[in-house]
Amino acid sequence: MINVTKPFLPEIEEYITYVRGIWDRNWLTNNGPLVNDLELRLKEYLNVKHLLYLGNGTIALQIAIKALGLTGEIITTPFSYVATTSAIAWEGCEPVFADIDKDTFNIDPAKIEQAITDKTTGILATHVFGNPCDIDAIQKIADKHNLKVIYDAAHCFGTQYKGKSVYNYGDISTASFHATKLFHTIEGGAVMTNNADLLKKMAYMRNFGHETAETFAGVGINGKNSEFHAAMGLANLRHIEAIQQSRKDQAAMYDKELAGLRVKRPKIQANSVWNHSYYPVVFETEELLLRSIAELNDNWIYPRRYFYPSLSGLNYVKNGDTPVSDDLASRILSLPLSHSLKREEIAFISRILLRVQNN
Ligand SMILES: Cc1ncc(COP(=O)(O)O)c(C=O)c1O
Repeated sequence: MINVTKPFLPEIEEYITYVRGIWDRNWLTNNGPLVNDLELRLKEYLNVKHLLYLGNGTIALQIAIKALGLTGEIITTPFSYVATTSAIAWEGCEPVFADIDKDTFNIDPAKIEQAITDKTTGILATHVFGNPCDIDAIQKIADKHNLKVIYDAAHCFGTQYKGKSVYNYGDISTASFHATKLFHTIEGGAVMTNNADLLKKMAYMRNFGHETAETFAGVGINGKNSEFHAAMGLANLRHIEAIQQSRKDQAAMYDKELAGLRVKRPKIQANSVWNHSYYPVVFETEELLLRSIAELNDNWIYPRRYFYPSLSGLNYVKNGDTPVSDDLASRILSLPLSHSLKREEIAFISRILLRVQNN
């Protein structure tokens, strides 16, 4: 069976070395030494100013919205995972959808500008599949209209824009370190910011609002993560170069094998280094996509319709007019990609797709 992804696991002994330390210290959670170590190593590896390690990428979005004090309307992309939209709704704000660019699959800055009202307080944009948004255009709009910018950078481990980690952009960037991600800590996430005051605010928000054991700086939530999760992150970080290289190599193999397949691929933002975290293909029709999935499934291969459905049609939001996203979501498929996927498997998947197209 080949799934759309397969979580990387280090040698069990590498993990156990960290776990022994947890047993020795009997310190399981609440900002323990492994969490601190992981934060320092990630900051160094990614070259970001401030980073807080959190329970997951969804709580990261919620804390980012809360820390920036966003209210009213937040302009967002309809082409993302549901957590992007639900975090906005969960925080009591209204998601307002701006359609996407048909080539990069990221939110279209021109559509953002059209969606601004006197209730708009922020923009929440996703760097889809780790491909940076049009960051300069979005920042220009935000500056002009005095809006805050959050980037849902869940897919972006290793992506760079203009020579820096893409996590450096926006008021706050969020990451997911879920098991399906290129770098993972089983469950996990982070917020990154260049603003020390925001960091302080998010640090107390992560820990129920505690300022000291008996005083509270404001409303907080439980956004913490455990020593066991941090241990997995520390072990996995030692292999990150190899994981990234394997993604790049596999993407090149797919490119070669699929040269005859009539599919569209995302256009990667200029001035960026992409992390190849996913291998999405866009079929000419939904019918061709469905036939391809059925044939792959018959061969025990399970790609994923990602992202599907387009979020502006969710039943708990005010629906938006987003034809580009709706159309893309109906025809896009993420093909299997993981550190251990073999050349023969990529060739097999590709042959099936070509056979479906040509029959
Ligand atoms: C774009 C995007 N945002 C947010 C999330 C949520 O992250 P988590 O699963 O860590 O809560 C995901 C997870 O897949 C995602 O793909």
